[in-house]
Amino acid sequence: MLMPDSGLQHLFDWHLEDDLTWEEQLARTRHHYHRPRSLRRPDTLRSLGLLFFNSSLRTRTSMEVAAARLGAHTSVIIPGSGVWGMEWKDGIRMDGKSVEHIREAIGVLSRYYDALGVRLFATGTDYAIDQSEARFKKILETATVPVINLESALYHPCQALADAATIREQFNDEVKGRRFVLSWAWHPRALAQAVPNSALLMATRLGMQVTIARPKGFELDPEIMRLAESYTSKHGFSLTETDDQDAACEGADVIYAKAWGSQLRYDDSDQEKALRDQYQSWQVREHHLGNAAFMHCLPVRRGVVVEDAVLNSSQAIHLLQAEFRLHAQIAILERAWNLI
Ligand code: CP
Repeated sequence: MLMPDSGLQHLFDWHLEDDLTWEEQLARTRHHYHRPRSLRRPDTLRSLGLLFFNSSLRTRTSMEVAAARLGAHTSVIIPGSGVWGMEWKDGIRMDGKSVEHIREAIGVLSRYYDALGVRLFATGTDYAIDQSEARFKKILETATVPVINLESALYHPCQALADAATIREQFNDEVKGRRFVLSWAWHPRALAQAVPNSALLMATRLGMQVTIARPKGFELDPEIMRLAESYTSKHGFSLTETDDQDAACEGADVIYAKAWGSQLRYDDSDQEKALRDQYQSWQVREHHLGNAAFMHCLPVRRGVVVEDAVLNSSQAIHLLQAEFRLHAQIAILERAWNLI
């Protein structure tokens, strides 16, 4: 597990920041939601490079708008699409398809931009690389400007900051002790665990009663679970796991749906698929909702992860979550550029 030991990693690994910083960033996020036009722009033009190794709708556009609100210039850089394909391995002879090494690419971009945002999902094939965030670490080692994590192998910190602000807003700050259910859902693909990891850490840090509802075989990473348990000890209330989705959702204040793959996907993707496909009925349905607010990070597959009726109901706050991404990222950029 990554531990922050520099300013750059602080921006990357938001979950491990001290409580004061986390509360300040939450407060700034909510400030921007309530007063979206009261921004203090930097005196000099800033530039933001957004490196997307994977697709995005919300993260990409909300980062561009966040930067624009701060008067900053933005470039979106998609390796392999009008930009050279990149090599990750060190010490190799680059006589294959990759033209540019990540170390030169990040070194160059650090000289043009005042901050970099990077989206780099899990490989899904090499657990050692993913669990150690080896590829993201390589970027952090090489960059000489702040690096903002736009979703890595283990974490989606911008999403989690937005989600925490959404929950505080939804419950008028009366969040401690409320019941938060992180519900696994079936998906045709074995998705990564960054969002459920971050949602779990966010909810335990808010001091909620957290239940993870997931079938056997879909456990989250043990180190993430240990970190979540430490948050529960510190901030109060509880963390439990169950394979009974109906019972978990009863009396929930928040149902946060997310699909993720089993760790088996690293060793045996056919066996993982066979296991996952036994649970196609795992979907958040109208009868689960009760009085709960429904959350999802998006994009979401309607009729697969969640019933239309849930998304169409007034209890669904997924669009508010998406809106908070913008406010959260303005707060993150302010911090990256020492604007507050
Ligand atoms: N929630 C989220 O990160 O959305 P995108 O993948 O569209 O950026």
